[in-house]
This record gives sequence, C-alpha cells and structure tokens, in this order.
Amino acid sequence: MKEQLANIRQQALAALNEAKDMADLDQLRVKYLGKKGELTAVLKQMGKLSAEERPVMGQLANDVRAALEQAIDDASQKLAEVTLAHQLQAEALDVTIPGTKAPIGHRHPMYIALDEIKDIFIGMGFTVLDGPEVELATYNFDKLNAEEGHPSRDWSDTFYFDEDSRVMLRSQTSPMQVRAMETMDLPIRIIAPGRVYRKDEVDATHSPMFHQVEGMVIDKNVTMGDLKGTLNLVMEELFGKGTVTRFRPHHFPFTEPSCEMDVQCHKCGGAGCPTCKGEGWIEVLGAGMIHPNVLRMAGIDPEIWSGWAFGMGLERTAMRRFKIADLRLIFENDIRFLEQF
Ligand code: PHE
Repeated sequence: MKEQLANIRQQALAALNEAKDMADLDQLRVKYLGKKGELTAVLKQMGKLSAEERPVMGQLANDVRAALEQAIDDASQKLAEVTLAHQLQAEALDVTIPGTKAPIGHRHPMYIALDEIKDIFIGMGFTVLDGPEVELATYNFDKLNAEEGHPSRDWSDTFYFDEDSRVMLRSQTSPMQVRAMETMDLPIRIIAPGRVYRKDEVDATHSPMFHQVEGMVIDKNVTMGDLKGTLNLVMEELFGKGTVTRFRPHHFPFTEPSCEMDVQCHKCGGAGCPTCKGEGWIEVLGAGMIHPNVLRMAGIDPEIWSGWAFGMGLERTAMRRFKIADLRLIFENDIRFLEQF
C-alpha cells in the first residue's frame, strides 16, 4: 500500500507538470482526489490493514492528498498567470499607432470664397443675413422700383409659382435690401448671400441656379466714394494687393446712379484671352446708390439717409479667386476637381 501511495504521488505530480490548461487540472483532480479517484480507492482498502498499520498509512495517505492538493493549487495559479500574460499580450493596445483615417469631405471652393467674403465684411462691421429663396414679387420687383412691365419680370426670365406672377424663385438677392430696411434699425450694414434663379441655359458662364452676395449700407452722408472705396478694398483682400478694378456706368431700377464693377483678368492681365472672352476684364458685381424711391417705399427718408448696395456673383468671384475656367465645374461635383482645393 505504501508503494501504491508513492506511485500515485509520483504519477500525479508528473501529470500535473504536463497540464496545459484548467480543464486538464480538473481532470487530474477528479482522477486522483475524486470520489472514484485513485487515492480514494487506496483508502478504501484501509480496512484490511492491521490496527498498528492503519494510522501510519492514514497519515501517509493524508500527506499525499495534501501534497496533491497543494500541487494542483500551485499549478492552477501558475496557469492563471500564464493565461493572463498571454491575454495581455494579445489584447495589447498601442495608443501611439496612427489611426485609420475615415475619408471625410472638405469645403467646396465656392464656400471657401464665400467664407473669405464674409470674413472681410464682418471685419468691417457688417451683419450676415439669410433670406427666402421662394420670394414675393413685391420684394423681388415692386419694392425695388421695378414696376409691372419691367423686362426682368418677364415669364421668359423668371420662375413663377402662380398665374398672377406674385410668388417666385427670387431672381436676385436684392429683395434682402428691402427686408433689411423693413426690419432693422438704421444705420444698416449687411451682406446677404444665397441662391438665385433665372431661366438661363447651362453653359460655361450660365446656370439657372447660381449664387449672389448682396451688400448694403444705409447711413447719413453715404456717397458713391464709399461704395468704390469699400469694394476696391474687398477686391484687394480677396484677390491680392494691387488688384485692378474698373467701374462702368450701368442701369438697375433700384439704384441711381448704377454701375458694374470689373476685375482685371487674372489670366492675361488685361490683354484679352479665352477666360475673359477677349475682354481683359471679368465682371464681378452690379452696384449703385440706393434709389430714393426704394428708400421711401421702405419708410426711410431719403433727405436724411442715403445708401449704396451691390450684388456680387459668387461663382464668378470663386472662379476668379481659384482660377477656375468653367462655371459647370462648380456644380458638377467631380471629385477630381473638388479634391484640388
Ligand atoms: N441685383 C442686381 C443683379 O442681380 C445686382 C445689384 C445689386 C445691382 C445691388 C445694384 C445693387 O444684377
């Protein structure tokens, strides 16, 4: 029996050394210490021993049990440590590895130009307004001194929603002049960027939807000199120092006098080329001194107050700013084009 116990001890310890995981350990615990285990089987034979032998063997068997239990505990602890070490290594997180970049979009060149324009005007104390694209003819025409029969009111030029030509897609941002006059306290300095709509065929310089930035100042003693000085400064900020501009007389129903402002072509420096259609100049805005009728209709006394306004083509400005040759590139959203900005 002594031998048997010694064998069990030796075999069990050897087997424990080989155990690879907790399942192995459990199996060994059952095999040697379980109810039907080998050690128990030996103990069952104790009855056959003599009275002197019994306590000696009992002591021995207990020693073996204690040794095995201890060995199983040790092995189980070691296994747990090894498992944890493996796990820590496998799940190690290196926070210094650069992440995978998710492709996100970026700003459209026209909106980059618009943000620059906003910054320039905000810096001069202007407020930025937003206004409706579906507009009343009252604001788009009547209150802007363009009475019934004015050519710009024609159905061939304007998108109307109703037979009576009262509700329309605004054809210009100028209605925002009137909306500002009616709602804001004087003096006023605003810009109002947004979409406008006209029945134009799509080509390199036209689109039935395009963007304008309206601008308006109303104060006391405002002159055409303020208009020219401010707009020249804006063009220099936008296109760089030394940008050459010119003002040409023009006509708008809501300004008097009226003008258009050109910027010298960036491609040919004024000599004439395909980009400026041989002109040497690119038209960027219409402007003028606000017509006294418009002020009066909005309840502002033209004897006390005067003002100037402009309407800038945003696509054209962006094209000049980023040297874009064709208007359609701005709307087509070809990723190869957009990625360049
Ligand atoms: N609204 C005019 C246009 O669309 C531009 C303009 C705005 C002219 C303000 C004068 C004053 O052509």
